Formats: sequence, structure tokens, C-alpha cells
Amino acid sequence: DGYYLHQYQGFWCPSPFIRPMISFQRHFQAQNEDIILSTYPKSGAIWLKALIFTIVNRSRHTLEQSPLHTNFAHQLIPFFETAIYMNNRTPDLEDLPKPRIFATHAPYSSLPHSIIDSNCRIVYLCRNPLDQFISEWQFLLGIQGNKGKQRSMDEALEMACSGVQSYGPIWEHVLGYWKVSNEQPNKILFLKYEDLKEDTDFYVKKLADFLGYPFSKEEEKEGVIEEISKFCSFDNMKNLEASKTADRHPIGYTTKMFFRKGKLGDWKDYLTPSMAERLEKLMEEKFDGSGLNFKTS
Ligand code: A3P
Repeated sequence: DGYYLHQYQGFWCPSPFIRPMISFQRHFQAQNEDIILSTYPKSGAIWLKALIFTIVNRSRHTLEQSPLHTNFAHQLIPFFETAIYMNNRTPDLEDLPKPRIFATHAPYSSLPHSIIDSNCRIVYLCRNPLDQFISEWQFLLGIQGNKGKQRSMDEALEMACSGVQSYGPIWEHVLGYWKVSNEQPNKILFLKYEDLKEDTDFYVKKLADFLGYPFSKEEEKEGVIEEISKFCSFDNMKNLEASKTADRHPIGYTTKMFFRKGKLGDWKDYLTPSMAERLEKLMEEKFDGSGLNFKTS
């Protein structure tokens, strides 16, 4: 009940996921057609999963028949760490339908070698650290708050600023993928939640191109891109049957908790000006010279 953070290869890994992370690193055999989604926690993994699942499977079923109606995206494309934790062993992955899609929160430097060495592709998604912080704080409140264990926001911020956060430090996590995505743009597509939100259609097209499932001229004319954006939008996904189950996962969350607000700049309702300034400054300092920045409102 409850977990602690354990430093593993320079990042703070939640204790239940240490063994799964090691098992993933040691045993996962990537195949060239695989798609790996890597995200920093609370940056929109569920959204990215729905988008990619829908894009690559669009010839298999219509949106009305999408398995996403009845299957929570985290069930269709589980996080490795969670899948191994739940099964207590590495699940049999060989026979999954192609393309196999996997998700992880692992930092770039901890990815299994076969992911780096094979021709599989990686899509990375992160989010501005202010909204990420609030989203995570609210999520933990949902898991722990009713047990009276939630830290104060001040304390949580103090920890996040020192990098003590699930898979933190966020700066190192984001920069790890950022640097490689600049060197190998065909290997890693680096996405920010804010950009995805601002122009979903553009990124749906970009994802399809990057993953080798480009839209035909006919599809573009028929408005398939816009339909996919709409189907995966916060308002639509929140109201799918699969999103409404209130069952609590053994790890402590419910499906509903993944659809909180889905907006930009939500931190403004929670962080005091000095808290926000502290995060903004730290962000500037950490990303200085990297060419990376985030819109915060
Ligand atoms: P908020 O807590 O700010 O609302 P993850 O899936 O990585 O855990 O990220 C969860 C965050 O993504 C939550 O942010 C959630 O509301 C938001 N989200 C979920 N589905 C979304 C969607 N379809 N479009 C945009 N944001 C979404």
C-alpha cells in the first residue's frame, strides 16, 4: 500500500516498477516494425495511445467499431512496467498483432538496447512542467488523498524541483529524448502536449507519416484526419463507455482519473505566483542552450 521512489540509473522509479523496468531492459526484443511510445507521466499518454492506435488500425475498423469504445487505451497498449508488474513476469509479446505498439516511461538512457539498435520507431510525449506538476499532484490526490497521505503542494513542489518525482528529474527525462530526436529525427518523434492540443490535425498527419501510415489524398479529402482528431479529443474520449468504469486498478487509479481537465495552463488555478516563478526559472535554467522550450499558457 503506497510506494516509494527508488533511484535507478539516475532517475526516480516508483518502487513497484523497478523489477519490471529491469526485466524490460534485459529481455525486451524489439522488432523493426514496432512502435514505442515513451512519455513522461501525466503528459497525455492516454491521448497519444488513442491517436496512434487509431491511425495505424484505420484500415481494420471504422471509428464506430473502434476497440477504444470498450477498451481503455491503457489496456489496449499497456505500459510495459505495469504489464510486467501485473503479470509478475514478462508477458508473451511475440504473437501480438503487427505493428506491435508498446508504451513506457523509461528514460532514453534506460531503454533496452534492441530498441536503440533496431529500426523500430519511438514517439516521445512530454508536457510543460507546470501543468505536468499539477496533473500529477491531482492524480496522486485521487490515489492517496482519501487515505490522508497526500503531501502538501509545497512539499511536492520542493521534491519535484529537486527531481524527486516519478521518473524524474523531468528535465533529464525530456532532454534525453530531445537530444536524440534532433540527431535522429527518423528514429524519434518528439512531441509536446501543448503543440498536440493546439493543432491536433497537423500532428495526426505527422504521426501517420512518421510511423509509415501516411494518409492518401482521398483520405485527406474525406476528412479522415479531422475525424481521428475529433474521435481522440478529450471531450469524446472522456465520454466513451471504456472511460467511465469506476473500478480501481490494483495500482490505485480509476479510468476516470485519466480524464481530468485536459487543458493548457491549468496550473494557474493552483500554483501561487512564486511557485510558478520557481518552476519557470528552473525550466529556463535547465533547458538553457538546448533549443527546447515550453509554452506555459
Ligand atoms: P490533466 O490532469 O491536466 O487534465 P497521462 O495519460 O499521461 O496520464 O496524462 C493525463 C493527462 O492527459 C490529464 O491531464 C488528462 O486529462 C489529459 N488527457 C487525457 N485524455 C486526453 C485527450 N484525449 N486530450 C487531451 N488531454 C487528455
